[in-house]
Amino acid sequence: MDPLDTLAETAPARIAAATTIAELDDVEAATIGRTSPIAEARRGLGSIEDPEERRSAGQHINGIASSLGDAIAARRTVLEAGEQAAALTADALDVTLPGRIPARGSIHLVQQTMDEIVDIFVSLGYTVASGPEAESSFYNFTALNIPETHPTRLESDTLYLDYGEEQEDVLLRTHTSPMQARYMEEHQPPVYVVVPGKVFRSDQVDATHAPVFHQIEGLAVDRSITFGDLKGTLAQFAREFLGPDTQVKFIPHYFPFTEPSAEMHAYTHGRWIELLGCGMVNPAVFEHVGYDPDEVTGFAFGMGAERMAMVRHGITDLRALIDPDVRILEQYR
Ligand code: PHE
Repeated sequence: MDPLDTLAETAPARIAAATTIAELDDVEAATIGRTSPIAEARRGLGSIEDPEERRSAGQHINGIASSLGDAIAARRTVLEAGEQAAALTADALDVTLPGRIPARGSIHLVQQTMDEIVDIFVSLGYTVASGPEAESSFYNFTALNIPETHPTRLESDTLYLDYGEEQEDVLLRTHTSPMQARYMEEHQPPVYVVVPGKVFRSDQVDATHAPVFHQIEGLAVDRSITFGDLKGTLAQFAREFLGPDTQVKFIPHYFPFTEPSAEMHAYTHGRWIELLGCGMVNPAVFEHVGYDPDEVTGFAFGMGAERMAMVRHGITDLRALIDPDVRILEQYR
C-alpha cells in the first residue's frame, strides 16, 4: 500500500490519541512535518515527468496533508481548552475557606479584673487616679497613721530603695493607700476616687503571695458619710462583681488608717471568702492632709486584684496568673 494512504488511514487515530499539546506536536511532526511521509512525497513530485500525473499526485498529497492538518488543528483546540481549564482549577482560589487568623495578644486577666472593678465604681460616680510606685515612707506609713514602730515598716516586709543621701526613706509602696493622702492633699471634698495600681512586698512567690501584685484603693469623703454608706457601696460592688445574689458580711478588723475597720467577706463558690479591707477614715488621716474631721467623714477600702480574679474564677494558685503560660491566659480572653 502507498505510504501516504497508510498515513491517511492511521494518522487520525494517532491524532485523536494525543492527550497533551506536546504529544500532538510529536504527531504533527511525524505526519505532516518536515521529515514526514508527506514532506517526502512532496520532494518526490519533481521526479514525475508527466505534468498531468504530477498534478494529480500533488493534489493527492495536498488533500491528505490538509485533512490531517485540519484534524490536528481541531485536536489542538480541544487540548488547549482542556489544559487551560486544568490550569484554572489548579490555581483556583476558594473564597469560602475561612481565613487564617493571626495569633493576637489579649488583655491579661489581672488587667481585665482591675478594669472591671474600676468600671463598677465609675458607674457609681467615682473618678480614677493613679500615684507613684516609688513612694516616701511619709505617704506609705506616717500620713496613714502607721506608727514608727509598726512591724510593716521593717525591711522584712517592705522593699526600700537606696537613694543615698535622701532625707526621707523611699520605698516601693506596700499598698495603694498612700494615694488616699496624696489625693486629699490635692483635692477638696467631696472625694469619690478609686486608684488601681501595682504594690510591692518583700514576699516570696507561693500560691497566695507574690512580691508584686495589684490593688484597687477606694476613698469616699463627704459630709455625713456613715458606715452604712460603706456597707451599701461595697455590697453593691460585690453583687456587680460576683453576681446579683451575692451575700456579704463585715467582720471587725484593724487598720491604723481606718476606725472602725472591717474585712468584707462574700459567699461565693460555696464558701465565705475574704474580699477586701475597709473602714471609716481615721480622723488622724484627715488631720495629716488638712481636712477638718468635724466637717467631713469618709470610708476607704482596698482590695487585691489578683485575689479578686482568683475568687471570681475559682483559681486556687496565684502562680497561674504570673506564669507566662499562654494556655492558661488564653482561657480568659
Ligand atoms: N491598705 C490595706 C491593705 O493593703 C487595705 C485597706 C485599704 C484597708 C483601705 C482599709 C482601707 O491591706
